[in-house]
Amino acid sequence: MNLTQNRWLDRWKNHFRNNQRDRVEPMWDAPTKLTSDQIEKLLPSLAQFELGDGGGPCYLTAWDRGKFLSQPHARELVDLWFKEEAEHSRLLGDAVKRFGGESIESHWSFSIFCLVRKVLGVSFELRTLILTEIVSNVYYQMMLKHGGEKDAAIAQMCRLVIRDETGHIAFHKDRMARSGRKFGMIWAGIFNLMGLAAGTMLWVNHGKAIRALGGKNSEFYQEIWHAMDHFIITLRKHARDEKSNRNENLQPMPQS
Ligand SMILES: [Fe+2]
Ligand SMILES: [Fe+2]
Repeated sequence: MNLTQNRWLDRWKNHFRNNQRDRVEPMWDAPTKLTSDQIEKLLPSLAQFELGDGGGPCYLTAWDRGKFLSQPHARELVDLWFKEEAEHSRLLGDAVKRFGGESIESHWSFSIFCLVRKVLGVSFELRTLILTEIVSNVYYQMMLKHGGEKDAAIAQMCRLVIRDETGHIAFHKDRMARSGRKFGMIWAGIFNLMGLAAGTMLWVNHGKAIRALGGKNSEFYQEIWHAMDHFIITLRKHARDEKSNRNENLQPMPQS
């Protein structure tokens, strides 16, 4: 392990450690201003996210995940990443309980998601998970924007999850930028298309809940587009910066 890798590992270990500080538990017993219709539409969405965002198999599941996890530091950092995902599931489960709902143990969309991740390999799985985090962050941001003032507990939960997911997206961007890969037009086109597909999949299942709070279809797709665009632009810049410092980097970071 060289000095650059040590610094990289320490930086992300510190990030995950620091991120566990100052986490205030949402006020699950606080009164809500959400209407019964809004709660009725929100509950299935929260229950599905409880299962999909850190519930179910909360780890890399691709048949060839070993090749990724065997890279230096990969297992340690993946453990820290998924530990935060499991916390999202706990928070969402408490939100479901707050509104008198019940957790679910399976859903067709999550079953397909897991099967595809398992079969298509770790490279595809990592890309799918990054895209899921980008589009899920938009979901939580819209829930916070439109439902936060009506429900303090939901606002607090969203802020915690957004804080974590923003870190996860930055972690993956950093990892990808240091991989030495190129992120050209073809890569960006495919990435955007996959992001659009991931966003549409999310909206099919959860659009009803966010629309009940006041969100719009057009707003969701605008935010998805903006988030994807921002990710690609900043990834390319980060990769260029890394390339210019390449002489100091003796080994690439974990990559898919
Ligand atoms: Fe998450
Ligand atoms: Fe995440």
